[in-house]
Amino acid sequence: MTIPSARTGSTIGSSRLDVMNFLNEVAQNYPSAISFASGRPAEQFFNLEAWINRLPLFVEHFATQNGLGLETARNLIGQYGRTNGIMCDLIARQLALDEGILCKPAQIVVTAGCQEAMNLCVTRLCRHPDDIILSRSPAYIGITGIADLNGIPIAPFVVDDSTPPAEALEQAIRNARYEGKRPRLLYLVPDFDNPTGTVLSRDARLQMIEVCARNGIVILEDNPYGMFRYNGKSVPTMFSLDTKTCVVYLGTYSKTICPGLRVGFAVVPEGEMPGGQSGAGMLDALSQAKSFVTVNTSQIGQAIAGAILLSQACSLRDLIAPVIQHYRTNRNAMLDSLAYAFSAYEDVVSWNQPDGGFFLTLRLPFEFGREEAEICASEYGVLTMPLSFFALGEDGRNQVRLAFSNSQPERIRTGIERLGMFVTARLHGRRE
Ligand SMILES: Cc1ncc(COP(=O)(O)O)c(C=O)c1O
Repeated sequence: MTIPSARTGSTIGSSRLDVMNFLNEVAQNYPSAISFASGRPAEQFFNLEAWINRLPLFVEHFATQNGLGLETARNLIGQYGRTNGIMCDLIARQLALDEGILCKPAQIVVTAGCQEAMNLCVTRLCRHPDDIILSRSPAYIGITGIADLNGIPIAPFVVDDSTPPAEALEQAIRNARYEGKRPRLLYLVPDFDNPTGTVLSRDARLQMIEVCARNGIVILEDNPYGMFRYNGKSVPTMFSLDTKTCVVYLGTYSKTICPGLRVGFAVVPEGEMPGGQSGAGMLDALSQAKSFVTVNTSQIGQAIAGAILLSQACSLRDLIAPVIQHYRTNRNAMLDSLAYAFSAYEDVVSWNQPDGGFFLTLRLPFEFGREEAEICASEYGVLTMPLSFFALGEDGRNQVRLAFSNSQPERIRTGIERLGMFVTARLHGRRE
C-alpha cells in the first residue's frame, strides 16, 4: 500500500478543479452520449408542484410551535430567519425514525445543502496553518474542492484489502505528524461512498472512532446515500456508534427529496469534543460563520422540506420506496450488463457489487484517464469518470466510476455494451 503525504491545493488542487470543467465540457460536446458520469438523482421522482402545495402544512406547524397566528408565521417564513434553521425539530424526528440517530433539535444547524455544512465544519476546525484534513483516497470532489479553495492540505489514505481502514488511518496520522502537520478532522462517507460505492463495516467504524478520539480528531460523517440500500442489512451510522463525542453527522435532502431544495444539515454531538471544544461551542462557531456566509438557509426551501416531512409523519422511507426500486433495477441492469460485456475478460476486468448508493467501480487492465474518457465520449458515445479524477495520490489509475442513478435499464445496457467495445478494442490493440 502506498501512503502519499498531505497535498495542498497549490500542487494538485487546481488540476482537480479543472476536472469538473473537463466533465462539463465533455457532457456539452457529446449531448447524446449515454452518461455514467453524473451521480444525479432520478428527476422523474421530483414532484415539485405537489410538494410546494403541501407548504401550508409547515406554516401551520411553525405557527403552532411558536405560538403564532398563520399570517405572522407566513410572514416570518418569508423573512430573514434563524441562522440554525426552522425545521430542526422535524429533522431530529426524521433522523430518529429513518437512521436510528438520536439527537436534540438544538444539536442541528440547517445548511444550504450538505456542501455548506462541510465547508463550515472544515473552515471552523482547520484554522491553524498546520491543520490538515484526513480522507480516504479516492475522495468525493466536494471535500477536496473545499480543501483546495481554502488552501488546507488533505492527507489521504487508501482503503483496500491489504490493510484494515483504521490501520491505514493511523499510519496517515503518524505520517502527517512526522511532517509537522496537525490532523484536525477525518472526512468519511461510510455508506455507499462516492466515488467507490463501498460500505465501512461496523468494526471499521468503531475502530476509526477509537483512533480519532485517541488522536483528538473530529470525524465528519457524510451520509447522503445511507437510505438507498437495495439489499443486505444496514450498518449503524458512526454518529450513533460514537461514545466518544467525536462524530459530526452531515445529512442532506438532495437525494431523498431533490437537490434543488438545497437543504442539508450538520448534527453536532453533545459534550466535550476532540480538541477540548464543547459540542455546543462547535455549533455556535458553525452558526456564527454561517450567519456571514448564507445568513440562513432558504426558509422557503426548509418550509417545503418540512412540509414533505410532515406529510410523511417524519419518515422518508415510504416516499423513497419507489425511488429505491428504480435505483435497484438500474444497479441490477448495470451488474448484468457488465457480466455480459466482460464475460471474455473475467480474469482481467472486475467490479464491485454495491448493496446500495449510486456508484460502482470498474477495474481495467490498463490506465483509464482523461484521454480514455474523451475517446469513450467521442468515439463510443459513453461518458464515464476516471477514478483518478477523485484520487488524492497516484491510486485509481486503472479504475472507472460508473453512476447508475440517473439512467434507465435500456440505456445502461447500451452504454455498458459501448464501454465493452472500447475495452475490447483497447485490449486487442494491445495484444496484436
Ligand atoms: C458524498 C456526497 N456528499 C454530499 C453530497 C450532496 O451534497 P448537497 O447536499 O450539497 O447536495 C453528494 C452529492 O453528490 C455526495 O456525493
